Amino acid sequence: MQIEVKQAKVEWAEDEAVLLSCFEEAKRFVGALKIIDDKLCGGLTHLFETKDFTAKLGQTAVLYPQGRLKFRRIILVGLGKRDEITIERLRRAYGFAGRKLKELKLKSICVQAFESNHPTIKLQESSQAMVEGILLSNYKLSRYKTVEENEKIALEKLTVLKERRKGIGEIKRGVENGEIFSWAANFCRDLANQPGNYLTPTHLAGEADKLARENNLKCRVFSASEIKKLKMNTFLAVASGSKEPPKLIVLEYLPPRRKTNTLALVGKAVTFDAGGLSLKSTENMLEMKGDMMGGAVVISTVTACAKMGLPVHLIGIIPATENLPSGSALKVGDIITSHSGKTIEVLNTDAEGRLILADGLSYARSFKPDAILDIATLTSSIKIALGTVCAGIFGNNQGLKTRMMQAGEVSGERVWEMPLWEEYKEFLKSDLADIKNVGGKPGGAILAAAFLQNFVGELPWIHVDIAGVDFKEKEDSYHSKGATGFGARLLLQFLKDWKKL
Ligand code: BES
Ligand code: ZN
Ligand code: ZN
Repeated sequence: MQIEVKQAKVEWAEDEAVLLSCFEEAKRFVGALKIIDDKLCGGLTHLFETKDFTAKLGQTAVLYPQGRLKFRRIILVGLGKRDEITIERLRRAYGFAGRKLKELKLKSICVQAFESNHPTIKLQESSQAMVEGILLSNYKLSRYKTVEENEKIALEKLTVLKERRKGIGEIKRGVENGEIFSWAANFCRDLANQPGNYLTPTHLAGEADKLARENNLKCRVFSASEIKKLKMNTFLAVASGSKEPPKLIVLEYLPPRRKTNTLALVGKAVTFDAGGLSLKSTENMLEMKGDMMGGAVVISTVTACAKMGLPVHLIGIIPATENLPSGSALKVGDIITSHSGKTIEVLNTDAEGRLILADGLSYARSFKPDAILDIATLTSSIKIALGTVCAGIFGNNQGLKTRMMQAGEVSGERVWEMPLWEEYKEFLKSDLADIKNVGGKPGGAILAAAFLQNFVGELPWIHVDIAGVDFKEKEDSYHSKGATGFGARLLLQFLKDWKKL
């Protein structure tokens, strides 16, 4: 995909289509809309008069200039009411527009930059949101069909237009960020949509290694015997039921110049979660090829931070394994000595995410980071608590939680804070070991977080549970059906806004 920012008048555009946006109550057209309306001899005015198009958020209309302009189509997208516009609503509107481009199989389009004098939305941010909306909605699933049903359709060229020179720099920065943010999310979607027989821990490690080479990151992949030497027994216990070997992926990004803090990012990567001996039902297993999304988010976030040259030192830690039942699998009741030295009684092998994260978090501490963040498709309870609209966050540091809430608002990947009062710890007391991995159904997402807290010590820590937001059952605005890639844009925004702790 080629993206260009050009100082030019909209009527000079020569592409297959020009994309324009407008607000609901536009009575009098100004700027590019006025020019187009004049060129079309009042075509836009007429469209509004018919009320076929009222510019409701995400509504689209296609007009044909029939030779009166050099391009063949005008795609109009509604932004809704002017005083209700936010960055996320803008992103969604362009998501709907992007779906229209896909439907029309367009390969090359021009898009008019959003207004430069908006009181609350800066040009850089609106440009980023616009590019994200278009690139995220243009995402196409890799298919495994032997006979391709549709010809390959994807946008190849996008040109952002602005008439005056002022603001071109801001647009360029926004476009660049939008491209990186969308790449990160689409990378996660691609991995999470791949079935378990394709995306194994070995394959995931290969993807991380490839990105590391291309982006100047350090990458080390530990084999099962090396994981054993590190004493990550809990991680190995989860992997023991599977023939596919586990991998511990460690990625490091060192900023080129000044650095603010060192952060450890730990991501759950269970490439298929059958539940182990506590086997899931077929229905509950369906989405479990995507149980590695936290890991994919960490891989893409570390890579994207390197692409942007952010001043944070990052260690990405991704324990990758399958969770399957077999003669060698972890058994219910087993007691394992974890990397931290704490003993864990495993009373449900399907609560495996917290087991591999326990070792991941405790291993992360050995890098002496200033803060630890983990992200995981951890519990179905979080979906019951918050639905499919936002992720749950937990942590021991108010500053980190506030920053994450803000990053959620800006990125549109919203989060909501959940409690972690000490009363919850009671439920995880084991008769035989230091701790048990489950504590009953009520408050399941909180109990999982309370379990993880045992392995971070006093370090500032934040945990993001994305189990409710990992898949979409049907497409909407900038989401396609299937994996959402939720978390990548959230963490990137969080790290882009990072200030020294
Ligand atoms: N991977 C699942 C959580 C999950 C559920 C992710 C639905 C995405 C969608 C996790 O490993 C799991 O099975 N958790 C159990 C824990 C329970 C046994 C305490 C759950 O949430 O049901
Ligand atoms: Zn599970
Ligand atoms: Zn799982």
